[in-house]
Amino acid sequence: MLTLAIETSCDDTAAAVVAVERRCVLSSIISSQNEVHSPFGGIVPELASRRHIEAIQPVVTAALDKAGVALDNIELIAATQGPGLVGSLLVGFTFAKALALVRSLPCVGVDHLSGHLLSCLLETDAPDFPYTALIVSGGNTALFRVDSPSACTRLGRTRDDAAGEAFDKVAKMLGLDYPGGPIVARLAEEGDPQAYSFPRAWLNKQSLDFSFSGLKTAVRNVVPTGQKISALQLRDICASFQEAVVEVLVHKTILAARANTHQRVVLGGGVAANRHLRESMRMRCAQEGIRLFLPSPAYCTDNAAMIALAGYHTFLAGELAQPDSDAYSRSPLH
Ligand code: KG4
Repeated sequence: MLTLAIETSCDDTAAAVVAVERRCVLSSIISSQNEVHSPFGGIVPELASRRHIEAIQPVVTAALDKAGVALDNIELIAATQGPGLVGSLLVGFTFAKALALVRSLPCVGVDHLSGHLLSCLLETDAPDFPYTALIVSGGNTALFRVDSPSACTRLGRTRDDAAGEAFDKVAKMLGLDYPGGPIVARLAEEGDPQAYSFPRAWLNKQSLDFSFSGLKTAVRNVVPTGQKISALQLRDICASFQEAVVEVLVHKTILAARANTHQRVVLGGGVAANRHLRESMRMRCAQEGIRLFLPSPAYCTDNAAMIALAGYHTFLAGELAQPDSDAYSRSPLH
């Protein structure tokens, strides 16, 4: 089923054309807004919505052109319905509903988290079900048991900041650009992960919940306000912070996989592009005899190809969006 998908949950305008049964991504276009939000050190929701309005038509057209298909060939339209910034979501979701209406096409609203949970299926080496999934992004950090494309159960989630949010806030404290995650990760590669002993929030022993706010405060306490830190200190803080985040993410994911008696672990979300997380998870999974499935970095961060895949399964479940269907800011999955 040739699916046109749209994703505007946050600050990227994305569109993709996917031949879903063949899991063949014909195009996946992403227009980033980083230069709009960078001067503010974080996303400004009002600016994000305005930029989506400007970008949506050219991005959808580019996705169709790159795929070499006309709108007449499209059989299903899918768009992220939530969670995210409502102003941003409304642009993509309303565009999708309007397009579907004038073209008499079926339209589905997709949960952004189910997109991340299924993004690994876009890869050639895709996992079978069931699997344990860690979704780790700027807005979410949660563990799931995934039994089928349309059946998943949340096992744990962050009680405060998402891991990506912690990366971005620590970057801001250190005077680094937005989004800070990839910059902190790059600096961390040249730093000593043992230089600072930052706290790990294990919570209680079996808990699959996360907490990153204490870690953020601990970083704040070693960064003297108003004083410059050396390049060496900067790299060591980044490496020690990243180590603390990754250690907890890996430990709790393995705990969840063991509790589920799953032989497969899947990662998704922007922070899943983090090299240290990918390597640490790979090592621990190998020790446990678990197969690890990692989406390529382009399918870790927000993209519309994963929305096409999740949208197809929403369609199969018969859950069609209506013209008055609304966007939502909080996911029922989270
Ligand atoms: O999934 P995503 O594109 O958007 C959300 O749904 O949040 O994730 C974006 C987040 C940002 O917080 C960004 O800093 C973080 O993912 N991120 C990383 C890396 N690449 C992106 N964090 C750590 N290391 C990275 N390499």
